[in-house]
Amino acid sequence: MFSAASRLLRATKHCPKGLVEPTRMFSISAIRTEGLQLNSLDTFTEEENMFRDSVKRFAVDIVGPKVREMDEKESMDPTIIQGLFEQGLMGIETSAEHGGAEASFVSAIIAIEELAKIDPSVSVMCDVHNTLVNTILRKYGTKEQQDKWLPLLSESQLGSFCLSEPVSGSDAFALQTRAKKDGDHWVINGSKMWITNSHEAEIFLIFANVDPSKGYKGITCFIATKDMGVQIAKKEEKLGIRASSTCTLNFDDLRIPAENIIGGEGKGYKLAIEILNEGRIGIAAQMLGLAQGAFDKAVPYTYQRTQFGQPIGTFQGMQFQIAEAAVELETARLLTYNAARRKEEGRTFTKEAAMAKYWASQVAQHVSGSAIEWCGGVGFTRETGIEKFWRDSKIGAIYEGTSNIQLQTIAKFIQQEYSR
Ligand code: CAA
Repeated sequence: MFSAASRLLRATKHCPKGLVEPTRMFSISAIRTEGLQLNSLDTFTEEENMFRDSVKRFAVDIVGPKVREMDEKESMDPTIIQGLFEQGLMGIETSAEHGGAEASFVSAIIAIEELAKIDPSVSVMCDVHNTLVNTILRKYGTKEQQDKWLPLLSESQLGSFCLSEPVSGSDAFALQTRAKKDGDHWVINGSKMWITNSHEAEIFLIFANVDPSKGYKGITCFIATKDMGVQIAKKEEKLGIRASSTCTLNFDDLRIPAENIIGGEGKGYKLAIEILNEGRIGIAAQMLGLAQGAFDKAVPYTYQRTQFGQPIGTFQGMQFQIAEAAVELETARLLTYNAARRKEEGRTFTKEAAMAKYWASQVAQHVSGSAIEWCGGVGFTRETGIEKFWRDSKIGAIYEGTSNIQLQTIAKFIQQEYSR
């Protein structure tokens, strides 16, 4: 028995030099008979489809009515956070034993996307909690750490990922926060900046350097709770995702028990970037959902609004813009799902995640910007919420690695591949 791929290879060998056997050799029936299941990228399991439906209902019915008020007040309604916990959306991949939904990574991506269609602020809260905080514990935590922290994170306590500092954004490993050993504790001093979820969080993953003489190989990840003395300082006033909190944190002799190191001393840099590689697929999903949310709000209006005796969406100039936006959305969707599936299959995904995040954040800006224009004066008002999508889209090109950092990551892979 030959696999479909090896049959193609054998067939190609018998071709005249320079010619490749037509791809009909690689027929669908050949693939099917060998039990290979090749699906389109937007094929989901029954469980994932059910998950999408239930997140969608929560987003539309519970989050939807609060979006504008939360944006204007620049604060997250506590009932939304509670609702996320009650819906099982704060421990999506966490095992049932630890109070989680034990669902797939793709399910987490679906949840982030569906929430972002309604409110990108709620989406990023869920995203950071799941793809960064929970994942670090699931992947690198000891059994004791998982038993202690994962149930809290699944059921009631919001998590925050504290990496960036005033002097270290893109150059994340230049962080200045220091940790010194003192008996069976570590003492942390320093500041963090632009920390998502930090106003409402109870649990903080803090990156600090325990031995600056080793450069970034001294960076270590600590887990702390607010009541240990994490000081939540200035809350930023932002252009977009205003209901999602972003604060400065100060650590002034913050004492953390020695057993609260995650992944080992000096392992924090690798752990941070490996988690961010995954997290970037989450941000791609957030940007994809955001773009789709703006599209879904604006397009129906273009068929209702009549000018010069016809619906504006039926003018060719508008039709082409709408069609182009639909193509952009599809490409962002395929890149995002492909990166997520690769991660789930245990294949390499760093380059694909960077591509998905880079592209989805470009698409989000473009589609939400166009959506405002399609709706004209109405789109520019705060009433429809379309302008909010556009404001919210800007952050996609900034957090979890700027667009330039994504391009640099992609370029490193290309260089490696082509300079062998
Ligand atoms: N995946 C895995 N490892 C990586 C990596 C990647 N994408 N990029 C770098 N590394 C590793 C290298 O292999 C190397 O490790 P070793 O020494 O063990 O071999 C080490 O990191 C240093 O590599 P470089 O010298 O190439 O890296 P650098 O110092 O120039 O920059 C970086 C590395 C800081 C990771 C940078 O590429 C980067 O991604 N900056 C963006 C930081 C970021 O995403 N911050 C997000 C903050 S959190 C947030 O935004 C959450 C939120 O609010 C929503």
